[in-house]
Amino acid sequence: MALYSEKVMDHFRNPRNVGVIEDADGIGEVGNAKCGDIMKIYLKIENDIIKDVKFETFGCGSAIASSSMATELIKGKPVSEALTLTNQAVAQALDGLPAHKLHCSVLAEAAIKKALQDYYEKKGLKL
Ligand code: FES
Repeated sequence: MALYSEKVMDHFRNPRNVGVIEDADGIGEVGNAKCGDIMKIYLKIENDIIKDVKFETFGCGSAIASSSMATELIKGKPVSEALTLTNQAVAQALDGLPAHKLHCSVLAEAAIKKALQDYYEKKGLKL
């Protein structure tokens, strides 16, 4: 069996939502100290709906695929739903990740949560 699913390869080769949102409502950056990979998520939120989301990932293929899939999963969704996104859901949507690459999907969940936290803080609200 191939180490990576076709979905992982597809999102790695053709990542969705790569880029920056200049006037983002929330930004979250996280890193993994062990592998050194960094992920940054930008959110544009209107009426509590995630209107746009972009990411910049300096990392491995699984981290890029996880960022791409995670952004697809929250785009157009209410903030409340984005808050419940788990790394397992991201990995599942990618048809799985090898065990030693699961932490790459954890990075995607953490970056989104951090960006949402930033959004709440900018609004003067608590998460
Ligand atoms: Fe660390 Fe993929 S190896 S995020």
